[in-house]
Amino acid sequence: MCRNDGLKDGYRTCCRSIKVKMESGCEEVTLEAEVTNKGALALYGRLGFIRAKWLFRHYLSGVDAFCLKLLFPRSDLHPFIHKD
Ligand SMILES: CC(C)(COP(=O)(O)OP(=O)(O)OC[C@H]1O[C@@H](n2cnc3c(N)ncnc32)[C@H](O)[C@@H]1OP(=O)(O)O)[C@@H](O)C(=O)NCCC(=O)NCCS
Repeated sequence: MCRNDGLKDGYRTCCRSIKVKMESGCEEVTLEAEVTNKGALALYGRLGFIRAKWLFRHYLSGVDAFCLKLLFPRSDLHPFIHKD
C-alpha cells in the first residue's frame, strides 16, 4: 500500500479486510507493527486497534514492535449491535 492521492487507500483496505474477518466469525484481529512506523500505528489506532504488547527486537532488523489487537463485540453479549 502507499499514500498516493489522499484517498485513504490504507484505511479502506484495512476496513475491507476487517469486514471479511468479522463476517467469517472471527473474534479479533491481531497484527504487528514496528514501533517506529508512525503512519501504520496512527492508521491502526484510528481503526480501534489497541496496543496489547511490546515485542522486544521482534524483527530481524532488531526493531521492536507492537502487537495490536482489534476485538469484535460478541453477538451473544451485544445482540443489539448485530441486528440488521
Ligand atoms: C501505513 C500505510 C498502510 C497507511 O496507509 P495510507 O493509505 O497512507 O493511510 P490513509 O490515507 O488510509 O490514512 C488513514 C489514517 O492513517 C493515519 N495515517 C496514515 N499515514 C500517516 C502518517 N504518515 N502519519 C500520521 N498518520 C498517518 C491517519 O490517522 C489517517 O487518517 P486521517 O488522515 O483522517 O487523520 C501506508 O503508509 C503504507 O503502505 N506504508 C508502507 C507499508 C507499511 O508500513 N505497512 C504496515 C505494516 S504494519
